[in-house]
Amino acid sequence: MLNIVLFGPPGAGKGTQAQLLVEHFNLKHLSTGDMLRDEISRKTDLGIQAKALIDKGELVPDAIVCGMIEKILENNCGCTGFIFDGFPRTVAQAVALDELLVRFKQNVSGMLALEVDKQELIDRLLERGKTSGRADDQDVSIIENRIDVYNTKTMPLIDYYSAQQKFYPVKGVGSIAEISERLKAVIEGLTVVL
Ligand code: C5P
Ligand code: MG
Repeated sequence: MLNIVLFGPPGAGKGTQAQLLVEHFNLKHLSTGDMLRDEISRKTDLGIQAKALIDKGELVPDAIVCGMIEKILENNCGCTGFIFDGFPRTVAQAVALDELLVRFKQNVSGMLALEVDKQELIDRLLERGKTSGRADDQDVSIIENRIDVYNTKTMPLIDYYSAQQKFYPVKGVGSIAEISERLKAVIEGLTVVL
């Protein structure tokens, strides 16, 4: 299976690009952010707990997001593989994902990191905030906190996947189509364990 970790700071374009890759490679899109927002809209206990953290730009505990991913991997997707979007966010989550995939005789094929500079991220998120209805996209201090959390807790994953020779940086600026072509080229070059 082709298991792609689509990585990058908030506003890097992970969700947009994941949708295009899903169609092209017949993958299932797993966005933990979307799953959490779904829990929030259904006002579940998990959603209520997550909302308080998401609204501040903080991370939801590892056990919660890992549990959501585990549930999905347990159900056969009938797809060629997965795109993990916005997960893992911490080294503990990356370790948990590797352990989970081993259980299913799978592994991460590659981690593709969209690179976009900070001012562009802030501009994009504020623009998205005009229509997304997401409180965490509408306030510069929350956006800056999300980027800080990314820098301190999520960036170490670059070393984690580099050590496994699975880190592929991709320029995340340009047209959506151009960025998609860059990602596809990297994915087509990956050695995939079927
Ligand atoms: O991935 P996305 O940017 O949609 O995530 C939105 C928010 O959801 C994050 O800022 C964070 O608060 C929360 N989240 C999390 N852990 C994840 C994914 C999302 O805490 N693995
Ligand atoms: Mg997203």
